[in-house]
Amino acid sequence: MPERPTALIMAAGWGTRMRSSLPKVLHPVCGRPMLDWVIAAARDAGAGRVVCVTRPGDGVAARLPEGVESVEQTSGEGTGSAVLAARDRLEPQSTVLILSGDHPLLSASLITELIAAHELADAAATMLTTEGLDPAGYGRVVRAVDGSVERIVETKTTEGVPAQELAIREINLGAYAFAAGDLLGTLDSVGVTDGERYLTAVFPILIDGGRRVIAHRTTDVLSAIGVNTRADLIEVERHARRRLIEAHALAGVSFSSPETTTIDFDVEIGEDTRIEPGVSLRRGTRIGRGCTIGPQTTIAAATIADGVSARHSYLFDCEVEAGATIGPFAYLRPGASVGAGAKVGAFVELKNSRIGAGAKVPHLSYIGDADVGEGANVGAGNITANYDGRRKHRTVIGKGARTGVDTSFVAPVRVGDGAYTGAGSVITGDVPDGALGIAREKQRNIEGFAKRVEDERTE
Ligand code: UD1
Ligand code: CA
Repeated sequence: MPERPTALIMAAGWGTRMRSSLPKVLHPVCGRPMLDWVIAAARDAGAGRVVCVTRPGDGVAARLPEGVESVEQTSGEGTGSAVLAARDRLEPQSTVLILSGDHPLLSASLITELIAAHELADAAATMLTTEGLDPAGYGRVVRAVDGSVERIVETKTTEGVPAQELAIREINLGAYAFAAGDLLGTLDSVGVTDGERYLTAVFPILIDGGRRVIAHRTTDVLSAIGVNTRADLIEVERHARRRLIEAHALAGVSFSSPETTTIDFDVEIGEDTRIEPGVSLRRGTRIGRGCTIGPQTTIAAATIADGVSARHSYLFDCEVEAGATIGPFAYLRPGASVGAGAKVGAFVELKNSRIGAGAKVPHLSYIGDADVGEGANVGAGNITANYDGRRKHRTVIGKGARTGVDTSFVAPVRVGDGAYTGAGSVITGDVPDGALGIAREKQRNIEGFAKRVEDERTE
């Protein structure tokens, strides 16, 4: 069994056409940097070591996944200079995979095919190519009369490129397998063109030296899309999202409007869950079986158990247990935890609070830093005054308690198990178990008031 190839991923440079302060390869595609997609594909294809070429100070090295090595490209421009920067990391006797960090849709199976084609042909270099994409801007594969690969002509600028070469549809994907010794022996002879050292310039040198250079042509056009601008990024993300949604659909999830659903790479969803229009599921979200999510709901870094419904709501860094119903128009903030079968209704905001199993907060409430006991019912418009201007304090509402509409809880305060509060009360002291806490001005009526006003006006 041959040893696992090293993958060298070229990831240096800002990618000026992105017009961004973030380096190009760190731009996210479905919630993770495009470079991480390439790293994952290389690993899935069996790469042993993964080495990324970065630029000093671009912050890419610090963001690499566990176990990925990095090397800095400190001099020279272009993909050839990128590989030169990593020359010490390559074992001359081995096969090296060279990949571009700006092809996030490159699939593991295509990399596997590339390695197999390379080893079968015993080639010095094997490049991936396709004819299925608009070739504008890509390097085109120029072939000799006998059909063998001759060289790559770059078309980033078309100036000086002959018309018959611009007519070529076969493009270079920027993914290669090389016999490392051959690559290292040739790179130094590559000259500088338009200020760049092109990796693709090694091919004619290898061919002149009698070495075998082949192309592995693919119809997988998604793998071929490189990102140079944010317009390319839109295109790539659309495909990535579609792939993720289809994978979930095949695993038993229904999407009533896949075109309006956005989903990150690591989201988990159980069977028979239904995702309605306008749903956004962000990193770190796990959703159980048989849930209804949406319409118009965003969930990020949250854990949602089986049978939950969440409509027109925003849930972030929180937990919802089985069978609970959320929304419409609820806002669950970090540290919110909703127990089994509980209800959090319209215009309710929860923060750092536990709503016990079967409890209800149906309407227009802010519950912050609170513990609401099992089976309690929080009246409409209840507010926890959790902040005294300096510190946050907790409110405890006991099991089975029933709070009247418009109750304010001035924390720290505790309403006992099975206790009640009167409508419109400002509760500043503890209410014992089973008691009624009532704290409001007594009503008084002024008889004949309307007539008095009328008389004063006509005087
Ligand atoms: C490159 C290929 C082109 C191919 C296209 C596929 C060359 C000369 N051309 O062109 O034939 O069709 O990819 O997308 O290789 N990088 C570095 N250091 C550098 C410059 C680039 O690490 O100094 C990295 C970039 O981060 C990027 C990758 O190499 O991930 C490709 O560089 P880019 O400048 O985008 O090359 P293209 O012009 O697209
Ligand atoms: Ca590119």
